Amino acid sequence: MKFGFRLLIQRTVLGFTKSPNPNPNQNRNLHISASRILGLRCAINQTHKPYPNWGRFRGFPVTYYSYNKPNYVADYSTTLESRVNEKNFESIYVQGGGDLGKTVGEELRLKGIVGSEKIESCEEGVGRVETVAEKEAWRLLREAVVTYCGSPVGTLAANDPGDKMPLNYDQVFIRDFVPSALAFLLKGEGEIVRNFLLHTLQLQSWEKTVDCYSPGQGLMPASFKIRTVPLDDTKVEEVLDPDFGESAIGRVAPVDSGLWWIIMLRAYTKITGDFAMQERVDVQTGIKLILNLCLSDGFDMFPSLLVTDGSCMIDRRMGIHGHPLEIQSLFYSALRCAREMLAFDEGSKNLVRTINNRLSALSFHIREYYWIDMKKINEIYRYKTEEYSTEATNKFNIYPEQIPHWLMDWIPEGGGYMIGNLQPAHMDFRFFTLGNVWSIVSSLSTPKQSNSMLNLIESKWDDLVGHMPLKIVYPALELEEWRIITGSDPKNTPWSYHNGGSWPTLLWQFTLACIKMGRTELARKAVELAETRLHADHWPEYYDTRSGRFIGKQSRLYQTWTIAGFLTSKMLLENPEKASLLFWEEDYDLLEICVCGLSKTGRKLCARGAAKSQILV
Ligand code: GLC
Repeated sequence: MKFGFRLLIQRTVLGFTKSPNPNPNQNRNLHISASRILGLRCAINQTHKPYPNWGRFRGFPVTYYSYNKPNYVADYSTTLESRVNEKNFESIYVQGGGDLGKTVGEELRLKGIVGSEKIESCEEGVGRVETVAEKEAWRLLREAVVTYCGSPVGTLAANDPGDKMPLNYDQVFIRDFVPSALAFLLKGEGEIVRNFLLHTLQLQSWEKTVDCYSPGQGLMPASFKIRTVPLDDTKVEEVLDPDFGESAIGRVAPVDSGLWWIIMLRAYTKITGDFAMQERVDVQTGIKLILNLCLSDGFDMFPSLLVTDGSCMIDRRMGIHGHPLEIQSLFYSALRCAREMLAFDEGSKNLVRTINNRLSALSFHIREYYWIDMKKINEIYRYKTEEYSTEATNKFNIYPEQIPHWLMDWIPEGGGYMIGNLQPAHMDFRFFTLGNVWSIVSSLSTPKQSNSMLNLIESKWDDLVGHMPLKIVYPALELEEWRIITGSDPKNTPWSYHNGGSWPTLLWQFTLACIKMGRTELARKAVELAETRLHADHWPEYYDTRSGRFIGKQSRLYQTWTIAGFLTSKMLLENPEKASLLFWEEDYDLLEICVCGLSKTGRKLCARGAAKSQILV
């Protein structure tokens, strides 16, 4: 049965002043077929507050069709009806002059819908008294909450009142929401995370076409926005409007979104204990759709995931196409999460087997070929090249001249790290923080490698932390390299933004890695450093210069994942038992699986046997 889900609220309130987009049915690049299940929308009386900053939309009209009612809609309609009653409706939808999402978020907080009790209890001193920075961070995080049909569904990427050109920072980004989700979960507020997971799940099934090409069904959007559009003369409705990369700068594919979605789902069930969520048919299907996209056969020779440039947090050209470490570590943890959450039945047996094989091959590949330390660099330095055989030592034909000069002096005696990328005749020796830290969290790296990575961060503190944790990548691309690799990107100039800028949001992943490895003193030092500065600097998105001394050139202020990352780090340090629900230990069974099956054929191609002693340490 197909029917449109609408919530009609028929109360007349004066105050409609601006005419929203007059023609919402023009073509847009994202074509939507009427027969598809598209998601949700809800209608409100148009005499209520329309979207007050219509001019701030990027301006593409939307084609509307009716929606099948997903099976969780019933929950929402009751939730909404009971929550948005006549009394509070006016203030939610009518008062306030800012962005609709912002106003609603703030109003819900004031109305007690988004956990205002929790704020009060902190103020009353239940447990530790919050610092000034934490108090402000919580206020800002709650103000960034976006609601849809009256329920909280996510947080804006940035909520800077002084920013007249928010571009797409007024959207809910999947990756940016992760620290917000964790902050809310650790605070005992699971509803917003549940709503977020279920709504983005609906967007996943959106039939999307970009310039006559349809990306796979399992693709999760990079971000979404709640748009308010006129329904008729008296009513407007809210519509979820996703961006799958078709509007994103550079048209980059958001590969990390689906991986983060799976990771977030597991975090939600682990922390709330709501295991019924992961058992839902639509959730199980969502997991499988993402996995199908990631596990489908291609031309690739490696178990790592092949992606285009800018497919993750670094969403502009930075020379990370191919097999970037960040994607591999997220892929590895998403596979581990999925294996845990998939209902084990006849239908999923083969999929679980495929996951196990991929996990095993992927961890071998990364541990063996991405890892570098003094010893390994010295080996590469003495590599023979042009080896044609299955037993080559220098499998990827790396020319020793490729080892950058900075690295020979920089690599410390007792530390090592995973390189950023590996391709034929190319090792990207840059240190990417998120990929390394998430390898620790997900146990993609061995315990010994994980400790060595933290040793490296400790001994290279001035370079990787400096005045603000943490450098997104070290070192920056300069001169000719910058020109060719970034395409002369003026935002990614040396030691700025993605090109060697410092991103405070990375604090929470670093904290988690430190807790896992029993090195909390490192995390505390970083959090302390961030606390005073972030608060005084109005929570910037990123910092510039070699040591992170300046607020970034084009950095947004009041960046939500900076705020949420800080809060999450603090809460993780205070609740190590909860933190332990968010990382993975070594899976020894995986090390036993030899996926190539070559031992059976008697051929000597498989490098795993020889390398096992090294892998197991
Ligand atoms: C920038 C970042 C990206 C982030 C987005 C929203 O594009 O590169 O990682 O998700 O801003 O904050």
